Amino acid sequence: MKFIGEKIDSFVDEFLKPIDTNWQPADLLPDATSENFFQEVKLLQESCRELPYDYMAVLVGDTITEEALPTYESWLMGVEGVNQQETAGWSKWVRWWTAEENRHGDLLNKYLYLSGRINMRAMETSTQYLIADGFDIGTGTDPYRNFVYTSFQELATNLSHRRTATLSKQFGNTHLSKICGLIAADEMRHAKAYKTFVSHIFEVDPSEMMLALEDMMKKKIVMPAHFLRETGVKMGQTFSHFSDAAQRLGVYTTLDYIQILEDLLEEWKIENIRGLNETAEKARDYLVALPTRLKRVAERTKVPELEYEFSWITR
Ligand SMILES: [Fe+2]
Ligand SMILES: [Fe+2]
Repeated sequence: MKFIGEKIDSFVDEFLKPIDTNWQPADLLPDATSENFFQEVKLLQESCRELPYDYMAVLVGDTITEEALPTYESWLMGVEGVNQQETAGWSKWVRWWTAEENRHGDLLNKYLYLSGRINMRAMETSTQYLIADGFDIGTGTDPYRNFVYTSFQELATNLSHRRTATLSKQFGNTHLSKICGLIAADEMRHAKAYKTFVSHIFEVDPSEMMLALEDMMKKKIVMPAHFLRETGVKMGQTFSHFSDAAQRLGVYTTLDYIQILEDLLEEWKIENIRGLNETAEKARDYLVALPTRLKRVAERTKVPELEYEFSWITR
């Protein structure tokens, strides 16, 4: 971590955008100081009227996931090699990454509020629950495992925001499509950063990095909102309904999970990594064979057809 951490400033320059010229939520929302505000809100609400129920549910789940950023920042600050007392090094990366991510939940939350289709109190309660409940992602404080997790997650969020962008365009809402597309582009830059960190670790400590990757894939990458819940609903249920809605819409599916794994294996050239100790060689062979195994299992799983009534959506 110390060795790679020497390059933090160049990582920030390469993978994050300068703050002053970066987009902000206000650039994409009706301006309340303008005379046209109410007219713009009316148009916004009209453009949201026809968005399907599952689509709204996925958007709310995505928003709550983004809004639980305090969990992710505090988690990363606790990773070995990240020292909060220092203003440079890894803590700088975590702060700058958090600062950029923070715009996502902010923008989506305001948009959903204006849409007029959401029970904001129910959604906010779920957000407070999710931050209070935290998560259990199986990384411990190990940076290698954490960077596998973040590489995977940034790709997963890129994909799901990209799909919600495509869908809203199909439903005739280009404004929302632009919003989701911009967020997806941020996630892609972040994915590139975390993938780069892992590539650097593979260069200097290949066996341990391989074992960390194997361990994370054996545990399976859980979604950061896996504790998502609503008032009066048992923990785990709300999340699986949210995940079913995403599968039905094709926003994020089991096959996407496998595709992300395949992309990562290719990105890190896992198949060709040599100079490993014996256990790491076994781990490499396990990983190379994993996508095919997962595809066989995926063919047998079915997504529930039944729509569930979320407390978040009023109409
Ligand atoms: Fe995000
Ligand atoms: Fe992200």
